[in-house]
Amino acid sequence: MTSMPRTTFHQLRTLEAVVRLGSITRAAQELHLTQPTVSAQIHELQQALDAVLVEPAGRGIRPTEAAQLLRAAALDMFARWQRFEDELQALHGLERGVLRIAGVTTTEYFIAQWLHRYTTEHPGIDIELAVDNRDAVVRRLREEAIELAVMMMPPEQPPLEGVPLMDNPLVLIAPLDHPWTRLARVPRRMLDGAPLLLREPGSGTRLATEAWLRAQGRQPQIRATLGSNEAIKHAVAAGLGVAFLSRHALADDPARDGVVIVPMAGTPIQRQWMLVWRRDRRLSLAARRFVEHMRAQPPQPPATTPASPAPAPPGDTGQAV
Ligand code: PGA
Repeated sequence: MTSMPRTTFHQLRTLEAVVRLGSITRAAQELHLTQPTVSAQIHELQQALDAVLVEPAGRGIRPTEAAQLLRAAALDMFARWQRFEDELQALHGLERGVLRIAGVTTTEYFIAQWLHRYTTEHPGIDIELAVDNRDAVVRRLREEAIELAVMMMPPEQPPLEGVPLMDNPLVLIAPLDHPWTRLARVPRRMLDGAPLLLREPGSGTRLATEAWLRAQGRQPQIRATLGSNEAIKHAVAAGLGVAFLSRHALADDPARDGVVIVPMAGTPIQRQWMLVWRRDRRLSLAARRFVEHMRAQPPQPPATTPASPAPAPPGDTGQAV
């Protein structure tokens, strides 16, 4: 028989957070413990293992190489324990657990419907949902605060796996009385110098808009940065400028939001939402069931039809103009 470890899961959970966050204070905040408790647990671990795990650095601490090794071992053990719990549940024919998932801002318009269908099939599973912009969702994946995310532009790090879920057309919107609304087709060059509203830095909508403008060589005048889709809609309706926004963030009839979809050549910007998870972690039972559920019942777009551009006038090649 291998030797019994002289440590507890509690100590390992604490060590994992201290190494990941590089700070006793932040680990204590995340774990809802006091700082002295976290320090004491690290101290006990050091004694039990006869190894130095944290060194003083500036006003804080730096985890040692031994601490990094221990964190990797702890993550393996947690994953193995999780598997054991899954197996135990399966043995008893029970499905319990928590689905920890986050969606980017626009998903707030429909993610609750997906979760409702899922919990109807899996009533023993509780849901923890966070809705935030792209960068915040990526941060939650990195910090392992969530297992699954619904987003448009997955990052390269951490390495992810995913399934495509649904199209996300980004349309150009303008106020109801905007002169562009009288044109059958608006050439892209009209964006040059036009007042444009952007979402905040960290937003996937903003990233996609900027990438498209770069690719088209267009240079609008950035009039304002706003922190939500709703704020963008209201500001466009008020005449502050035009903006790109997910079609799914608009009412079926956008006039109800006080805006109109501009038939600009080359739009909508076609993007897609993915359901993603970390490739380097084993998913819990609750998360695996959600992936299976979404694969078996791919979501239908909400009851809005993406704006199709008006027919091109003769001579329009569809190229950047
Ligand atoms: P965001 O979401 O603009 O709220 O970040 C956009 C997306 O990634 O779909």
